[in-house]
Amino acid sequence: MGNVLRLALVDPGDATRESIKTTLLGLDMVWLEAECSRYEFFTDVVAQTHPDIGLVALDHDPDKALQLVSKLNQSAPDCAVLVVSASSDGNLILRAMRAGAKEFLTSPVRIEDLLDALGRIADRRFGRGESRSRGSTIVAVAGATGGVGTTSIAVNLGCALARNDKNSVALVDLDLCLGDADVFLDSIPDYTLVDVAQNVTRLDFTLLKRSLTKHSSGLFLLPRPVQMEDMALITPDDLQRVIGLLKATFTHLVLDLSKSYTPLDQVALQMADEVLLVTQLDLPCLRNVVRLLMSLGAITGMADKVKVVVNRVGLENGQISLKKAQETIGREIYWQLPNDYRTMVEVRNNGVPLVEQAPKAAITQAIVNLSEALCGADKAEEALSDSTKSSLSRLLNLWPGKSKATPIK
Ligand SMILES: Nc1ncnc2c1ncn2[C@@H]1O[C@H](COP(=O)(O)OP(=O)(O)O)[C@@H](O)[C@H]1O
Ligand SMILES: [Mg+2]
Repeated sequence: MGNVLRLALVDPGDATRESIKTTLLGLDMVWLEAECSRYEFFTDVVAQTHPDIGLVALDHDPDKALQLVSKLNQSAPDCAVLVVSASSDGNLILRAMRAGAKEFLTSPVRIEDLLDALGRIADRRFGRGESRSRGSTIVAVAGATGGVGTTSIAVNLGCALARNDKNSVALVDLDLCLGDADVFLDSIPDYTLVDVAQNVTRLDFTLLKRSLTKHSSGLFLLPRPVQMEDMALITPDDLQRVIGLLKATFTHLVLDLSKSYTPLDQVALQMADEVLLVTQLDLPCLRNVVRLLMSLGAITGMADKVKVVVNRVGLENGQISLKKAQETIGREIYWQLPNDYRTMVEVRNNGVPLVEQAPKAAITQAIVNLSEALCGADKAEEALSDSTKSSLSRLLNLWPGKSKATPIK
């Protein structure tokens, strides 16, 4: 399980301790080594269990808690102390800092703030390159126009990735109005993106997985809302949090985007590690690819992660040649997927993915190879010690102004 941070927690308040525990239990990067309800016993607990992190809730008795923080700082210098308080009073933060706390979190603890703080501690503890091995890869699948095959690719890519036992994969249908990923997987989900978005702070790992629908391929699906009017209930901020939580839970996330490039799609594009821009070889599509590449290219960090995928190659004689297409869009075509209407309609109508319905078909092989190429890209990236790409810090530093976690050392 890579670099897990071992954590001991002290909070004399039963309710707040339980709530912190629930949040922590949802994160597979944290192992809850010990919990304690008395400040005075906690130094001994830390001495016996040697956790990487000591989490001290301040509010029950701030003076006593801060004394404990200084004591821990001396008796267990290898244990990074993280403090939690409902107050964001500057004076309290200063006192915590002077006592030796490494991070100050405001309660109720937002999952992304906790991940942010843990990411920084993991970076300090294991080095940035190392902590990345616990990361997750987000693949956003976007299209040049409606009907190019975005959902077909997202669903079948997700299933191909899920075949590998080492992967845990979730697919999020972000086509909030007309999304049909559930049809492709023949599933009738109990919960949708709107339920998860509205309860994101209360969800732990187990509950989150229970809110998603598991397909027989191993792929977890988070579908679009049932009612169109519920679309409005999901804000970009909510989606950022949902993706953050999923990212901490799954090794791969596949996001099936809408064709409207809405603020929610923009969040997905920003948070993605890889963006597959699906097109076909006709003029309207290629023109949109050029326009999209221009707009996306203006967003910092985007140009490198957008990859053009040509779908339905060989569809008809009148298709623009790959060479001409490449010249028109001015960049490499990352992947080609053959046209196979019969198989694709069959998989959609039967609600069975390619890897199950037509494992030998050329289209299936092309998608399986695409999934392997994307995983290969992860591995190559892991090998690079590019400190800016630590998945946790990269994810959370996208919106630095929104983080409530205050690094104080
Ligand atoms: N490689 C392919 N060959 C033939 N038909 C395809 C291929 N990919 C997708 N299709 C078909 O194209 C249609 C639209 O695909 P879909 O994935 O729903 O597109 P989008 O999500 O971009 O709107 C579907 O009927 C699907 O079966
Ligand atoms: Mg679609």
